[in-house]
Amino acid sequence: MSLREKLKIIEEVDSTNLYAKRNLAELDDGTVISAQRQTNGHGRFDRAWVDLGEGNIFMSLVLKPSDSCSEVFPNLTQYFSVILCEILEEYGVIPQIKWPNDVLINGKKIAGILSETVVQGQKFKGFILGAGINLNACEKSVSQIKDKEVTALNLETGKIVDKSEFLEKLVNKFFKNYDEFLQKGFGLIENSYMRRACFLGKEISVKVFNETKNGIAKEINDCGELVLLEKDKETILTMGDIL
Ligand code: BTN
Repeated sequence: MSLREKLKIIEEVDSTNLYAKRNLAELDDGTVISAQRQTNGHGRFDRAWVDLGEGNIFMSLVLKPSDSCSEVFPNLTQYFSVILCEILEEYGVIPQIKWPNDVLINGKKIAGILSETVVQGQKFKGFILGAGINLNACEKSVSQIKDKEVTALNLETGKIVDKSEFLEKLVNKFFKNYDEFLQKGFGLIENSYMRRACFLGKEISVKVFNETKNGIAKEINDCGELVLLEKDKETILTMGDIL
């Protein structure tokens, strides 16, 4: 699969995920939407995703692997996070994954991934996998993000990052094992994910919508879910945000 045939670059958009959803019927499976500027990017749990400038990636992958939903779709964000870590490692940094799919370097968030399933009535129409990846930002702009610690690849390496090159590597690597992932699911990436997972064995707080759960992050199970040990009860979390 060649990136050039699939890439759609947009100068400015509200959100690449929203664009993909609005135009889903016309967009082929595997289309990559990349925006230079994003004015209304959003993340998980309705948070905003701040545009740190044109040197950063705002992208959405349009995936239409089948006519029906598959149980491996929720794990696609984890698959993406592993691929992203592998690419970041080529730049000499050591990324970690904060369950389920935030990518951190030195404890600071460098990328966020948001998946959205599109259904019409009962019919599955597609899956949008969006990612914001901070490649080139200045200290001042990252410090303006107050709700979490944020970094960018250039701040970690001291070098400007070629955005097109990074995007091409990322998308090519994503599609290399994508079909196999659809067959095998989380099992395909379990070891690679676990090697990079942070917080395991630690005392954590996880926000799940309006509720905060406290406990020890016991393990990630075979389905990629977080097993939280709360006092003497185990809770299996399929989504949430480690605070
Ligand atoms: C998160 O960390 O909560 C996920 C953030 C996802 C942000 C990306 S930027 C490109 C795509 N378009 C959006 O509106 N969101 C995703």
